Amino acid sequence: MCGIVGYTGPKQAYPIVLKGLQRLEYRGYDSSGVALLKDGKLSVYKKKGKVAELEQEMLQKDSSAHIGIGHTRWATHGEPSDRNAHPHRSANGRFAMIHNGIIENYAQLKNELVSKGYSFSSDTDTEVLLNFIEHIQTNNNCDVEEALRIALKRVTGAYCILLIDEQDPDTIIAARKGSPLVIGVGKGEHFLASDASPIIEYTKEVVYVNDYELAIVKPDQLILKNLGNEKITPYITTLDMELAAIEKGGYDHFMLKEIFEQPSTIYDCLRGRLDANAGTITMGGIEKNFEQLINANRIMIVACGTSWHAGLVAEYIIEEICRIPVEVEYASEFRYRNPIVNKGDVIIAISQSGETADTLVALEKAKENGAFIFGVVNVVGSSIARISHAGAYTHAGHEIGVASTKAFTGQLAVLMMMALKMAIKKGTITQERYQQLLNELQDVPEKVNAILKNAEELKTIAHKYKDAGDFLFLGRGYNFPIALEGALKLKEISYIHAEGYPAAEMKHGPIALVDEKLPVVFIATKDSYHEKIVSNMQEIKARKGKIISIITQGDHISPTLSDDVFSIPPADELIAPIISVIPLQLLSYYTGIAKGIDVDKPRNLAKSVTVE
Ligand code: F6R
Repeated sequence: MCGIVGYTGPKQAYPIVLKGLQRLEYRGYDSSGVALLKDGKLSVYKKKGKVAELEQEMLQKDSSAHIGIGHTRWATHGEPSDRNAHPHRSANGRFAMIHNGIIENYAQLKNELVSKGYSFSSDTDTEVLLNFIEHIQTNNNCDVEEALRIALKRVTGAYCILLIDEQDPDTIIAARKGSPLVIGVGKGEHFLASDASPIIEYTKEVVYVNDYELAIVKPDQLILKNLGNEKITPYITTLDMELAAIEKGGYDHFMLKEIFEQPSTIYDCLRGRLDANAGTITMGGIEKNFEQLINANRIMIVACGTSWHAGLVAEYIIEEICRIPVEVEYASEFRYRNPIVNKGDVIIAISQSGETADTLVALEKAKENGAFIFGVVNVVGSSIARISHAGAYTHAGHEIGVASTKAFTGQLAVLMMMALKMAIKKGTITQERYQQLLNELQDVPEKVNAILKNAEELKTIAHKYKDAGDFLFLGRGYNFPIALEGALKLKEISYIHAEGYPAAEMKHGPIALVDEKLPVVFIATKDSYHEKIVSNMQEIKARKGKIISIITQGDHISPTLSDDVFSIPPADELIAPIISVIPLQLLSYYTGIAKGIDVDKPRNLAKSVTVE
């Protein structure tokens, strides 16, 4: 949540910061702002709304400074408004600061400052932290770096901050705990950002800053220190990412691009790992610690949102073919309750961004209790990837659309490979079944491609139902989590209230909602539950609900019960979720578009949820 960018060097800072904010807008778009420092004068410009509003505001301003910081906000403390937008200025006007995260003890710090005569011009925790730093700096008559260190030791919560000082013409001071920060190392210039997307255009050499580290960044110097003022050698890594990956490439929206990329992202995920001809799955990160996994007494999967849905699919598959008990936990619950994590339990953490605060803190807690953690993460070098003992990347590439699509199918592919690898090693699956599933998994990209060719059919269906007030999504077995995912996608992108349910559970309550106005989406592919789900369709039809069904090609029964049908290629029931989710992604995309919604930036959401 919230995107931050900074630049110091010979170029004009503003165009770099602005472009960076546009790239980071997926992290929040309630307001944005920049602070520019030129000739010892600090100027701050900020605006409620999307980055385009700020861009407009800046047209008549002097933006020729060579050092600047910028922020795009997802509101936590204080409503979206100009006054709550970042950057904030300290009371004496000397410092400007941007912040991603939450200062949990801000109220206490604010009271202390108020008692010392401070007043505030915003409702934010950020302004409190900044004035706390200013107060320490003036009171102790120390340099700002020292003041920051003292202040951060008093702070609880999460932060990534960038600060510029009117009295220091070319330095950005940055610090992080719990919110990401990447520093791009150029020739005589440095770039700072929440992720690499604002940086990739200028340099591929980056340093990922760790928690409790402070960076003092000048055009030709990068000093990293810990909060104890000891220097740390920056570890420079080379980004494996191309600029094209973060641009729309001819699609109207990132979400559509990402949906259509899935044949290749799933292929990339399987490539070099799955060899159906040889009957092997190679996963370096998993193999090194394989014994932990196959000898687990229990697997606990910890995740949020769409990643949690991937965890539910994995639960069904792992229990089926590996015979290891699995529990799937919402990270936000896991971190606060007192879960039993025993020796021999293994945690699988699933996250696209690798920065989700709830998941990260849940893992820290589990790690303290001695749990072994496997990460299934998309963003390379992210905090969750780094905190995990072992893991596998999903290789879905940069996902920018706020609604997760290609990362989800990547997660399912990785989890499926992990399950198959465990099952064959444990001997809980026959060689024949194993080989059959390898073959099926290898065919997934082609099947997804076939679905995408018929995307227009879903556009028609979306137009027909776009004005519905509610939707119900029903599935059974492996497709039950896909019903949950379909409902979540529709809510996010179209603002239509939607619920996902196991189809049979529907009669224990939600059936009361059914009338001739309610569209009910059945994920009714040919599997061992098919006859049962057909009975559930009958129950809806008897109550005049509108049935949209996702069926397997060649199924002649379901269409007779349905108002609208979308057919997908046949697939083994364990593999089906990876392909049955595709039409649901498209259905929500086209519904959102039909309703005129900015599907890449739906209201109130942010891509990377780095606050709890
Ligand atoms: C939904 C969506 C969210 C995320 C959730 C977890 O489309 O994107 O529900 O899945 O916020 O995020 P990650 O996977 O980054 O931990």
